[in-house]
Amino acid sequence: MLAEGRGLGMHVAITADRPGSVPTGISSAFQRRVALRLADEGGYLLLDAPADILSPSSPPGRAVIDGAEAQLAIVGGDPGVAEQAKALGALAEAIARTGRAPAAGVGTLGTEIPPASLPADVGGLPVLGVSDDTLAPVGFEPSGAMVLSGPPASGRTNALRWLIASVERAHPKVTRYYFGSPRSVIGQLPGWEATALTVEDAGSLAKEVAATIAETGAGEKILVVIEQIGDFLSTSADSALVEMIKAAKRSDHLLIAENESGGWGSSWPLLQEVKAARTGFLLQPESMEGDTILKTSLPRVSRADFPPGRGFFIARGKSMRVQLPLVE
Ligand SMILES: Nc1ncnc2c1ncn2[C@@H]1O[C@H](COP(=O)(O)OP(=O)(O)O)[C@@H](O)[C@H]1O
Ligand SMILES: [Mg+2]
Repeated sequence: MLAEGRGLGMHVAITADRPGSVPTGISSAFQRRVALRLADEGGYLLLDAPADILSPSSPPGRAVIDGAEAQLAIVGGDPGVAEQAKALGALAEAIARTGRAPAAGVGTLGTEIPPASLPADVGGLPVLGVSDDTLAPVGFEPSGAMVLSGPPASGRTNALRWLIASVERAHPKVTRYYFGSPRSVIGQLPGWEATALTVEDAGSLAKEVAATIAETGAGEKILVVIEQIGDFLSTSADSALVEMIKAAKRSDHLLIAENESGGWGSSWPLLQEVKAARTGFLLQPESMEGDTILKTSLPRVSRADFPPGRGFFIARGKSMRVQLPLVE
């Protein structure tokens, strides 16, 4: 808002109790400063105000504005809190009478979004989640290979459940295949056409699915989920899975491969084949993970800004901060 709001007619006023509590990156965006009396004389310098105008005994509302001493006006003329509230209320009504639209509230991105609050699709695409910049649902292209990554407890299992449900909402007749562990709740979900819960099964199912994908054209939808793809590295299923991933990338069908963040680093063909699609969802990412996993730079981020289920969706070289819904 500070950097780009001005050109859009957005004006920002902020207050702070000390000049030092405003980082320079923020304070430098302000053209004008109003200094009220400060406890610390050094503070006036930081506000570009002469230090000898105000003192600790200056009355409330006495200020330095553009180098000159000034007294700020009081709405309604009475400094009492109740009177102030009344006067501000009257001011708001007066402004409303001029026909101006009331200011929209500033929304925040939810941390627990119920799937039922989202539409069935966004412009015909399955819903991914709610975007951080518009606070509106966003969709994703359900084709090709997609990385799903995140540290422990970042919401990967929930993300898989949601993505499966979401693709199913947009494509009720989707045919689903699962590769993973017999202990996973995902593999136990109803509706799989086939599941491979051992390395041996994974090898043979991957060959079947690769052939099916190659034969199944537009109009039908196949979804392949590989949970903890790292578990299949250098196993007898590895090369068959690589071939299946290649087939998925050449098709209009979707393959989602999940792994813990730390497990995506190496460049084994099995991982590389998925990563090279440069599409995926990185939950609670470190800044570097955009580059290391999907060759797409992320803005500088701090993990603290990412509750479970929040991350960056990366596709076509762009990143978007998104909160995934929480499946019951
Ligand atoms: N999209 C989400 N929104 C809100 N909370 C979530 C979301 N995804 C996960 N969580 C919370 O985080 C916990 C761990 O989620 P889980 O999917 O099991 O993580 P992981 O598989 O990465 O270990 C869940 O029990 C839930 O409380
Ligand atoms: Mg999990």
